[in-house]
This record gives sequence, C-alpha cells and structure tokens, in this order.
Amino acid sequence: MKITICFASLPPEPWVQAVQQAFPAAEVYAWTPGAPQADHAIVWAPPQQFIDEQSGLQALFNIGAGVDALLQLKLPPSLKVVRLDDAGMSVQMAEFVCHAVIRHFREFDGYDADTQAGKWSYRKPQNRADFTVGVMGLGVLGERVAKALQVFEFPVNGYSRSAKNFPGIRCFNGAQGLPEFLAATRVLVNLMPLTPETENILNHATLSQLQKGGYLINVARGKHLVEEDLITLMDSGHLAGATLDVFRTEPLPADHPFWQHPKITVTPHTSARTLREESIAQIVGKMQALQRGDAINGVVDHQRGY
Ligand code: NAP
Ligand code: GLV
Repeated sequence: MKITICFASLPPEPWVQAVQQAFPAAEVYAWTPGAPQADHAIVWAPPQQFIDEQSGLQALFNIGAGVDALLQLKLPPSLKVVRLDDAGMSVQMAEFVCHAVIRHFREFDGYDADTQAGKWSYRKPQNRADFTVGVMGLGVLGERVAKALQVFEFPVNGYSRSAKNFPGIRCFNGAQGLPEFLAATRVLVNLMPLTPETENILNHATLSQLQKGGYLINVARGKHLVEEDLITLMDSGHLAGATLDVFRTEPLPADHPFWQHPKITVTPHTSARTLREESIAQIVGKMQALQRGDAINGVVDHQRGY
C-alpha cells in the first residue's frame, strides 16, 4: 500500500514517521506537487491540485471529524472519504461542554470577578430544572456530550436528522421537530456537521425560539452561526451569552467584536483536538480492514455532506 500525507497547515513529517511505524508494510510519504501516485491518503484541507494529481486514490482519510473543508473540493464521486470517528475527541468534547455549561450555570465568571476584587460574596443558586441543555447533533460527539451532561443532572434534550431514543434524553428530529426542541431548551450546544442544510442554522429566527435567558455553546463550525444575530439577541437581553470555539474566520480577526463582548467567551477551536497517536491507530486499522475487504465506520456520504 502507498500512503501519501497532505495537510494544509500542519507539518506532515511527524505523521509520516508515525504512520510508517504503525504500518511497516506500507510505503508512506508526504505529498508535494508531482509526487508519485498513492492508493490511500491522509489529509486535512488539501488543495484541489492534490486531488487532481492523485487520481488513483482508493480512500482519503480526514484527520478531523468534520469533512466540510474536504467536500468543498471537486472530488470523484466514487472516492471513499473517511472521517475520524471519535479517536479520543468525544471525551474532550464532553469535558469542554460540561465545563462551559457549569461555568455559566454556577456563575463562576462572576465569582472570579468578585474574588479578584477581594470581595467575598454569594449569588443565589439557580434552579437546575430551569437549565435544560439541548444538544443539536446526536452523533459520535453529541451523544457523548448529552450523556455527560446527564451525570450533572441537567435536563437534556437532543436533536438529530433521524429519530433517536436515549434513556432520559428528550429526543427531537427533523425540520418539523426543531421548533419544539428550541422552545424546550435554555442552553443550546451545537454539534452538527456543516452542510448546506445546517449552514446559518443558528440565526435570529432559531435562536429567538430558545427560552428567555438562553445561552449558546457553538463547538461545531463558525458558519453555522449568523454572528450579527447572536449579538442582537444578547443585546436585547433574550440571550444571556455564548461560549464560542469556532468562527466564520479562523483565527478570529483581532478587531472582531466577539473578543471584547462581555457576554461571550472565546476559545481558539480547541474543544476537541485531533490526537495523533489515537488517530493514526484508527486510520491504519481502517486501511488494513479495507485491504482485507472488511467494512469500516466513518465513511462519508457525499450527498448528505457528513
Ligand atoms: P456525526 O457523528 O456525523 O454526528 C452528526 C450529528 O448531526 C448526527 O446526529 C446527525 O443526525 C446530525 N445532523 C446532521 N445534519 C443534520 C440536520 N440537517 N438536522 C439535524 N441533525 C443533523 O459527527 P460528530 O463526529 O459527532 O461531529 C460533529 C461535528 O463536530 C463535526 O462535523 C465537526 O464540525 C465538529 N467538530 C468540532 C471540533 C472542535 O474542536 N470544535 C472537533 C471535532 C468535531 P443523524 O444521527 O440523524 O445522522
Ligand atoms: C475539528 O474541528 C474536527 O472536525 O475534527
């Protein structure tokens, strides 16, 4: 097997070495223009030139869960695109989202401000039953997040494309289920893939359906959110604030209003990082499964967009 590696903004060398070590029978090399044809590739946001030159590829392994950047390219419809399937990301996402929900619910930012000012003060405990968390996207990451939130006894709603049934989670699905899901939600966590159907889905019309004092945690993609609509709804007092890990433009430009907004917490697209060792073990395992003719998880449906 010949494996080529092409990353837009990451040095490929450590991956070349580690994949070679994990798969000694393969020939592994970093792609450069004009490089020899490979049959498998490991990529992150490769250029169109890579796809055009590597016309003999059987499968493309994405080193992230989201394949939106990859599906922007002109890909042969028969090319198998495989995304990361957890590989250590779901526990990180559960940590991040639980941290953000609890920080907001327990008003820890307010306590930090008080203690930094040398002030010993109390806030009235909020009612957990009033803090229903709605997780949009109940896939590999969303399911783990929803179940982690249940441990802290928050009421949890879930929203997905197809119908789901998880004990203790009120599940909604499809366009017809969205208004009821939003109306029953105080803290909204977005974990859907970015597709033509979900782009701009966090907008004035949807966010204004959240319960009063609503809070947004966007950990999926920046293009899900209409940024001005979030600011309008925070300024009007309908939304209490937001934790945003992803943005329409990354890195977030220095003059972007989100940096300074008192109701917004910004993190630099770090809620669930790709872990090299876990990811290579998963990808190499899948390449070997394909070689044996076995089925694998995480194959992207080009039509559906995830
Ligand atoms: P996944 O397993 O494919 O799950 C996607 C979920 O979204 C599924 O439950 C799916 O419904 C639902 N969905 C898709 N389109 C929908 C629609 N139009 N309406 C309602 N629900 C819809 O993906 P994942 O591994 O959990 O990852 C989710 C996303 O997280 C990725 O695509 C990526 O953008 C983002 N992510 C961000 C970070 C970060 O660091 N910020 C890290 C990793 C991933 P069905 O179950 O019915 O198909
Ligand atoms: C990160 O954003 C990913 O999609 O894995």
